[in-house]
Amino acid sequence: MTQQAVTHGRWSSRLTYILAATGAAVGLGNIWKFPYIMGENGGGAFVLVYLLCILFIGIPIMMSEVIIGKFGRQTPARSAVLMSEASGGGKGWAVVGWSGVLAGYLILSFYVVIAGWALAYTWYGFNGVFEGRDPAQIGELFTGLNASPGPLMAWSAVIILGTVLVVGKGVRAGLERAVNWMMPALLVLLIVMVIYAARRGDFMAAFDFMFNADFSALSWNGVLIALGHSFFTLSLASGIMTMYGAYLPEQTSVVKTSIWIALMDTMVAMLAGLAIYPIVFANGLEPGAGPGLIFQTLPIAFGSMPLGQLFGGLFFLMLVVAAFTSAIALIESSVAWLVEKRGMSRMGAAFTAGFGIWSLSLLTVFSVTGAPWATVSLWSDISITLFDLLDYITANIMLPLGGLMIAIFTGYRVRKEITCREIGSVKSIYAIWRISVRYVAPIAITLVFLQLIGVLGL
Ligand code: PHE
Ligand code: NA
Repeated sequence: MTQQAVTHGRWSSRLTYILAATGAAVGLGNIWKFPYIMGENGGGAFVLVYLLCILFIGIPIMMSEVIIGKFGRQTPARSAVLMSEASGGGKGWAVVGWSGVLAGYLILSFYVVIAGWALAYTWYGFNGVFEGRDPAQIGELFTGLNASPGPLMAWSAVIILGTVLVVGKGVRAGLERAVNWMMPALLVLLIVMVIYAARRGDFMAAFDFMFNADFSALSWNGVLIALGHSFFTLSLASGIMTMYGAYLPEQTSVVKTSIWIALMDTMVAMLAGLAIYPIVFANGLEPGAGPGLIFQTLPIAFGSMPLGQLFGGLFFLMLVVAAFTSAIALIESSVAWLVEKRGMSRMGAAFTAGFGIWSLSLLTVFSVTGAPWATVSLWSDISITLFDLLDYITANIMLPLGGLMIAIFTGYRVRKEITCREIGSVKSIYAIWRISVRYVAPIAITLVFLQLIGVLGL
């Protein structure tokens, strides 16, 4: 056994790897974030751009990251940060690893607060709180939850504690057991919701909204948000796929598993949209309602459907679990770093990271409760909450820039024998991957940024 396998364990099978990587990918990004940012950015055109980003940028970059991870494990350097040095790129490339770990840490700080919302809603659901409430009252429930910081701090603390305990126990013991049955259960519940929404809600309006591309409704900022979300949703550029790649069994196909993970992730996002929007349109709600969208729509359905108490509780429980598997992945890279660089025990490192996350999460807590200090003005006419700022900087700036570097690194710097060995078994696929990471991804990402800072003026 190699040193690496002893320290962190290796996935026991290809299936376990896929489940864990899918668990990291599928999360709040699909069910909470995708529906509301799609609504804020006009629907169909946003969805189309998002799908193109997944296909031509996200999937190829996921393959790149997994290759870096798989190759990096040959050396003693094991965590995500060290791997970028280990892959032969020299010290400079370590910045990519660093910024990935930092982005993951910042993402986790708001992620746990949203997961805390879902946990609160699990409680509401099982206790029949949604029953008989009209849309306005469902809206008030959400407002009430965000009225004061105390409960939000407590709910997110529970999420963090759970994450810390699982990660503190190590990869084998913690991760594998958690992910095996939860993803399929979430999928089944989502399908139940789509069927219900199709029968009771305005399914045609929802379908039209999501799949009829009206480009006049999409701004360049919306294009960046779609691009950024393709990274966020696949957990790219945050050290996660690199780290999971390091645990990948030698014979496992990087190509097949990456495509499979992206497919599952996209499917969950589409199902979430199809479950939520029929309810939005049938009840005259706002597609652009923002981060509260899912919490203000689905409970309307749970409140009126047969067995709604059970389904409502279960649905939010599965959402918590999906968030939880992503949170585990998010905290893992900081923990790995603390263990390797600082020589801490896993448990000690997990608690240290967890405490830091909890402190940082207060920025988001006070943003949603509306504390004046948590809203900052960027330019004279734009002021946003620290939560929105964290979300924007991580998903729309750090991840795409990290992805750009990863694409360039594997496209131009990593020796061709290595990339070819991992994804070259089918020649045409290798050609597509290489064109994507050498040209399509770098050019597309650069163009969107240049346009947004006003250089191109399209
Ligand atoms: N992909 C996760 C989601 O969609 C979020 C995430 C981002 C997880 C980055 C890990 C790293 O919810
Ligand atoms: Na996702």
